Amino acid sequence: MALKNLGDLPVLPLPESFALTAAYNEDSFPNKVNLGQGVYRDNNCQPWVLPSVRKAEETLHNQQVNHEYLPIAGDSKFLTKARDLLFSPEIGSSENITSLQTIAGTGANHLAAIFCARNLHPKNVFISDPTWDNHHLIWEVAAPNVTRKLYPYYEPSTRGLNFEGMLAELENSAEENDVVILHACAHNPTGIDPTKEQWKKIAEVVGRKKLFVVFDCAYQGFASGDTDADAWAIRYFYSTLFAESSSLTPAGMFVCQSLSKNFGLYGERIGALHLVTPSSNSPEGAKAHLVQFVRAEISCPSLFGARIVQTVLDDAELRSKWQEDVRIMALRIKGVRTLLKLELEKLGTPGDWSHIEQQIGMFSFTGLSSAQVQELKEKHHIYMLSNGRMSLSGLNESNVAYVAQAIRDVL
Ligand code: LMR
Repeated sequence: MALKNLGDLPVLPLPESFALTAAYNEDSFPNKVNLGQGVYRDNNCQPWVLPSVRKAEETLHNQQVNHEYLPIAGDSKFLTKARDLLFSPEIGSSENITSLQTIAGTGANHLAAIFCARNLHPKNVFISDPTWDNHHLIWEVAAPNVTRKLYPYYEPSTRGLNFEGMLAELENSAEENDVVILHACAHNPTGIDPTKEQWKKIAEVVGRKKLFVVFDCAYQGFASGDTDADAWAIRYFYSTLFAESSSLTPAGMFVCQSLSKNFGLYGERIGALHLVTPSSNSPEGAKAHLVQFVRAEISCPSLFGARIVQTVLDDAELRSKWQEDVRIMALRIKGVRTLLKLELEKLGTPGDWSHIEQQIGMFSFTGLSSAQVQELKEKHHIYMLSNGRMSLSGLNESNVAYVAQAIRDVL
């Protein structure tokens, strides 16, 4: 129905992670704790500019770079480095991978959704239950004619992966050309990833059913501290499903790569979208369409983040410094998992808290209810998502006892 009056538009809530950050910033309570947005914080709960990134900034400053337009598809040197980081240099140079620079992971997901909706016309997009909330919004906005369906992922009774449910849903409900969004590693929000054996079974189903895979890779390095290990599923899907000899090649595969988290470049909005086409298909037409969407939306991507990433990855010494920075972030988060679990146990908090230590990546899916989360905010000034997701980097040695005590209190 046509809108008669702009004032008739309903007011929509701000997406939760941003609303929480805003509320936290407004809160004047001295011991407030921000466990909301998925951003890394150092041991003092402050933003951390990675030392490797600082060094790259200095290098760029001394180079007196200009501010010209990039090509529509992005900076080719950056794209080669970003692609190799995901796929490895051996796979990265393959001709059936087409890469474009994007406005971070969100831009990559958005471009993938537009491309699929306009060119592939899938009936459904399968999204994990639960997922990063923006997956839903992106597909709602960019692909309104594609039905969003949830596949089971988290099983509350075991606090683990409902692998049988996930596979059965894809097996029974997905049709050829349907899209399935998979989290490449460090699943957001649950912190639970499939095992290698489970990934192999997922690959078999998506290939046999000729689905279109969209890997979202926002946390490469955060699951294990090792960027190669965290790219295992993507590399496995590529080598197994897209080999010329494969009889299980899916309709295609996008990988949405965010460099916001593993470079700490949140506000610089840097990422890439990689399209893998079956070896029998020419990628040229698909690339031309992607370029056209970029032109219509942003004309061409932005420079600074690409320059930083490229400068870091191009220099052997800086690159190994960066790998160490990633490891530091992953290990600090792992460390606070243990601290929180021990504090909860020390207080005799009812329940089994071992999942906090077992889950991986930036988040813990605590199992707290939305009412308990609300109470944590109102009574204790502790901010986390209403689905019980805790962004662990907001914890440190100084506040972990306070948070554990507050959890004990709301249970
Ligand atoms: C999150 O999940 O908190 C982050 O990825 C920030 C966002 O965009 O929601």
